[in-house]
Amino acid sequence: MQECIVVTSGKGGVGKSTISTNLAVRLARSGHKVALVDADIGLRNLDLLLGLEQSISWDLVQYVQHRCDLADVLLPVPNIENLFFVPTSQTSDKMAMVPDDMIEVVDRLFGQFEFDYVVIDCPAGIERGFENAVAPAHRSIVVVTPDVSSVRDADRVIDLLQKKRIMDIQLVINRYRPDLVEQGDMLDVQDIWQILSEDVAGVFLESEEVLRSSNCGVPVVMNDSTVLHSLYADAAHRVLGREVPLVDLQHQESNGVWSKFLQWARVQMGA
Ligand SMILES: Nc1ncnc2c1ncn2[C@@H]1O[C@H](COP(=O)(O)OP(=O)(O)OP(=O)(O)O)[C@@H](O)[C@H]1O
Ligand SMILES: [Mg+2]
Repeated sequence: MQECIVVTSGKGGVGKSTISTNLAVRLARSGHKVALVDADIGLRNLDLLLGLEQSISWDLVQYVQHRCDLADVLLPVPNIENLFFVPTSQTSDKMAMVPDDMIEVVDRLFGQFEFDYVVIDCPAGIERGFENAVAPAHRSIVVVTPDVSSVRDADRVIDLLQKKRIMDIQLVINRYRPDLVEQGDMLDVQDIWQILSEDVAGVFLESEEVLRSSNCGVPVVMNDSTVLHSLYADAAHRVLGREVPLVDLQHQESNGVWSKFLQWARVQMGA
């Protein structure tokens, strides 16, 4: 089975790059050969999240311009077997590629390089960068934060994806704050699910850990002791089509692994 998954949102800054990177790491660590493609031409940052900013010689735009081969662009990610990174240009503009270029790249990643999964990190917005990123996708993960503007943009993006015949769509809710939901100041998982009517693949808490790990170039899932690690493991299972119940972040039991989770969440939120 070979699948191309685009991680998109419409709204900027909701966590697409963080989530594509961590999900790609999880999929690779469960034994799948994964290519993580940065489609954010001009504003790439997956290289920073992977600690690979000094390792890039060639990029996707240079490949499309016939200045190198695709094999030159593919970077094995150190310490993560099965994960390869496809960087894009830091300097070119979004017009440097067209959707057919991305389709050709992904076809070669599946055909010549035999990847199981290609995960594409989509730029914000719904213009050319979005068109490029979604063109080769079989399915999509739509990242949404629990606020009205993000949910409205996600709704618009879901509509656009469906018009492009991408019907397999899962939501990831990011930067969730159970304390704000409790006070009635934030939409809860149920609200978002009811508005957007798509399956929820994962819910990730607001966490300083994410910021720290981004700054040191090590994806947060590499740290097996964080609770985000187990939330990502569950999300990766759901992305792979397995039935894993969602953890109820509002009503945790007082013992077991989720009590550890609650304590951790309170520390993260300074509560
Ligand atoms: N769960 C989280 N908790 C705390 N901070 C987070 C979380 N997820 C993402 N962030 C932070 O939010 C910022 C934006 O994240 P990210 O770059 O992944 O978003 P994006 O959707 O890719 O943005 P863009 O639209 O600009 O590409 C980063 O500083 C990241 O560390
Ligand atoms: Mg991004």
